[in-house]
Amino acid sequence: LASIEVDVASLTPGMSLTVKWRGKPIFIRNRTPEEVKAAADVALSDLKDPIARNANLPPDAPATGTDRSGGKDKENWIVMVGTCTHLGCVPLGQAGEYNGWFCPCHGSVYDTAGRIRKGPAPQNLAIPTFSFVSDTKIKIG
Ligand code: FES
Repeated sequence: LASIEVDVASLTPGMSLTVKWRGKPIFIRNRTPEEVKAAADVALSDLKDPIARNANLPPDAPATGTDRSGGKDKENWIVMVGTCTHLGCVPLGQAGEYNGWFCPCHGSVYDTAGRIRKGPAPQNLAIPTFSFVSDTKIKIG
């Protein structure tokens, strides 16, 4: 199947879900307002990878908190490919210095928008093509 639909109705703020898509783990997280704000408050100049890496946006879109999320009206939602951009391990959620994701393999630290902040990984976690088909259903792919 090229695309999947995921029901996220049960994900209240602060909850996450991992689904499989094309053999890869996809992290879906309903971020808390604090997590959204923490990501939005970071200056692009402080980012190791300032590119959004969001398949739904132009390739040069900046890695703002909004452009790393479900967009302006859905900024609480994060949908990302859950493989570390270093060597492909699966990072742990709500872990690491920025309380985002932490890769235990070689210590890459991602923030609450899945942006690489420390460690050997070169890029932000990739964002796959996705859209909301309803308020509680996300289509991936
Ligand atoms: Fe994640 Fe190396 S695979 S830090």
